[in-house]
Amino acid sequence: MTLAWTKSDWRAKPRVQMPDYPDAEALAAVEARLASYPPLVFAGETRRLKSQLAAASRGEAFLLQGGDCAESFGEFSADNIRDTYKVMLQMAVVLTYGAKVPVVKVGRMAGQFAKPRSAPMEAKDGVELPSYRGDIINELPFTAAARIPDPEKMMRAYTQAAATLNLLRAFSQGGFADIHRVHSWTLDFTDGSGASRYADMANRISDALSFMEAAGLNADTAHELGTVDFYTSHEALLLEYEEALCRVDSTSGVPVAGSGHMIWIGDRTRQPDGAHVEFARGVQNPIGLKCGPTTTAEDLKVLMNKLNPENEAGRLTLIARFGAGSVGDHLPRLIKAVQEEGANVVWSCDPMHGNTIKSSSGYKTRPFDSVLREVQEFFGIHRAEGTIPGGVHFEMTGQDVTECTGGVRAVTDEDLSDRYHTACDPRLNASQSLELAFLVAEELSGNDQEGARAAG
Ligand code: PEP
Ligand code: CO
Repeated sequence: MTLAWTKSDWRAKPRVQMPDYPDAEALAAVEARLASYPPLVFAGETRRLKSQLAAASRGEAFLLQGGDCAESFGEFSADNIRDTYKVMLQMAVVLTYGAKVPVVKVGRMAGQFAKPRSAPMEAKDGVELPSYRGDIINELPFTAAARIPDPEKMMRAYTQAAATLNLLRAFSQGGFADIHRVHSWTLDFTDGSGASRYADMANRISDALSFMEAAGLNADTAHELGTVDFYTSHEALLLEYEEALCRVDSTSGVPVAGSGHMIWIGDRTRQPDGAHVEFARGVQNPIGLKCGPTTTAEDLKVLMNKLNPENEAGRLTLIARFGAGSVGDHLPRLIKAVQEEGANVVWSCDPMHGNTIKSSSGYKTRPFDSVLREVQEFFGIHRAEGTIPGGVHFEMTGQDVTECTGGVRAVTDEDLSDRYHTACDPRLNASQSLELAFLVAEELSGNDQEGARAAG
């Protein structure tokens, strides 16, 4: 049974990566206002996501989680949301074809505003200022005023998240998600220069859709072909915001984080006795837990017991992020820990956060090939261990940015300065994201990549 818990218990635990607000009264006023506002998501939705993730833990579904490293106030627009959503749907169709199971779509959207940082201070030209911690906390420009944590930003984040979710809900139910339309966008990609190696799989998907159409299945006759379930997620880092949006589910009487369908605990805030684990353990939402090179088998066992004491399938997603070339050094010991506990988890692969490098041009970037290699190592180890690779987790955008290098429409080191827009980590652009989906689909379908490449 879950131990007694209240939504403010985290306050008595050691906290890391959270701001010290200089104005306690202003903070309390914002928390009170947020606490009186409607939640962004509802308990029934989080339960539905949990049951779909339970299927992913058994290999009967596959998780696609993706979106911005950090959502920002400045880049907020309907077009940006639409474009990221659109690429995720395209990726989901390709992955569904490869995996032959439903793809559970979860955006890093509508709440992904707070960022953990590797250093609390940032130095530039002899001046030292507090680090930028995401638009929900402070501002990016390197001035003393911009870096002061301001609780009012939580209100703006809430408003932006609400508007984002509203649009996502409309897209998901309102005709935009028709599988034929989504796939026609993908054909535009595979018809384009360099991407023809993926045309074979794209054409096979077209054939499958034509067959279904001939059999009388289309968006008008089959609900599943015209609408999708789309969920939101973010790192539950700013616990004042999370607590203020926590609600008690009227059906079950169990607390639920109202800030997003799934919340995750970052690699820097997963201390078993820390504030972030304390908060997450008491809400019924699906929880993600980042697992990095310093995650020990012992810690993982403690965390699994704390976060999922009843071993409920779909409750816990372990998001492995080790870096290309290092998956074999870490994943096997964590798989063993999960097996020893008999724990139900979804294993997901985040091939972004272990592969950040500084390019020769000085930009923080991630080479497409390293991202792909980490995914392949992840799949390879699960194949060898006989365990289930249940999902992938990408930092990506529907925009044509130049933040990660490589891909068929190759972005070079020199290109990075052209359209480098991220407020935090480098994201895959639309074409790199879709290309990766094809390559993951090949892993999932068991096709060897060389064969697929030869076909193009
Ligand atoms: C992130 O997902 O943006 C992040 C900071 O990841 P991690 O906690 O794994 O470093
Ligand atoms: Co990131």
